[in-house]
Amino acid sequence: MPYLSPALNVMVAAARKAGRPLIRDFGELENLQISMKGPADFVTSADQRTERILIEELTKARPGYGFLGEEGGAVEGRDKTHRFIIDPIDGTTNFMHGIPHFAISIALEREGHLVSGVIYNPVTDDLFTAEKSHGAYLNEKRLRVAARTDMGAAVIATGLPFMGKEGHARASAEMALVMNATAGVRRMGAASLDLAYVAAGRFDGFWEHGLQAWDIAAGIVMVKEAGGVITDMRGGDQMLSNGAVVSANDPLHPRLLKLLNSAKP
Ligand code: IPD
Ligand code: CA
Repeated sequence: MPYLSPALNVMVAAARKAGRPLIRDFGELENLQISMKGPADFVTSADQRTERILIEELTKARPGYGFLGEEGGAVEGRDKTHRFIIDPIDGTTNFMHGIPHFAISIALEREGHLVSGVIYNPVTDDLFTAEKSHGAYLNEKRLRVAARTDMGAAVIATGLPFMGKEGHARASAEMALVMNATAGVRRMGAASLDLAYVAAGRFDGFWEHGLQAWDIAAGIVMVKEAGGVITDMRGGDQMLSNGAVVSANDPLHPRLLKLLNSAKP
């Protein structure tokens, strides 16, 4: 059974409640795909509504906590020691294209430290939860990062910059190195789930640059509680502020980090 602290319980309930209308929207998208206008406006409103439900539910249970959300930005609460970091739809491009790989991501920060995380894919009903010092779970199952130590057998996930984002040359250089050293690279399109999959041992590692705090906050707790390592590109812990992450198990992490830092764009 997953360990659910009172706060984690509240976060799970909020994610499940916000997930229900999101599944309906996802079904609707099939019809919208064929319209000339495309689903962009529809998705924006789904994003906003999901964040609104999350904030309403979390505020009801924890009035006074602050927020950092993709849609609403930073909102200071009366309680300066607690803050929820939320991404209403991580993997918006997948959502918009009818690809059932996206998630609601919620993290709780206490006195500047990440203490709980929920990553919920409402389509597959995969609920990832983690609480500091109490482990990480996928539904009822305790998670542990993969034990693989052979880089040549490893499957590594990443995120790639798209049109208008910086870092294309660096991403290509890094990809070339990792492609050459591993069993394969995956680009699934939702950073929160990438980290949850590292925690679950499905991926042996993950790296990406240019992420926002809400993409990764819950995933950081998840990986650490599954016994994995997650750092920024310098091997430090400034992931939330500099938006770069490298994650893997203990033996593979330093090797992946070294490989990525040797990339010459
Ligand atoms: C994006 C996803 C994607 C990552 C991007 C993020 P969004 O979040 O996590 O996998 O590559 O950097 O911005 O925009 O879908 O919430
Ligand atoms: Ca995101």
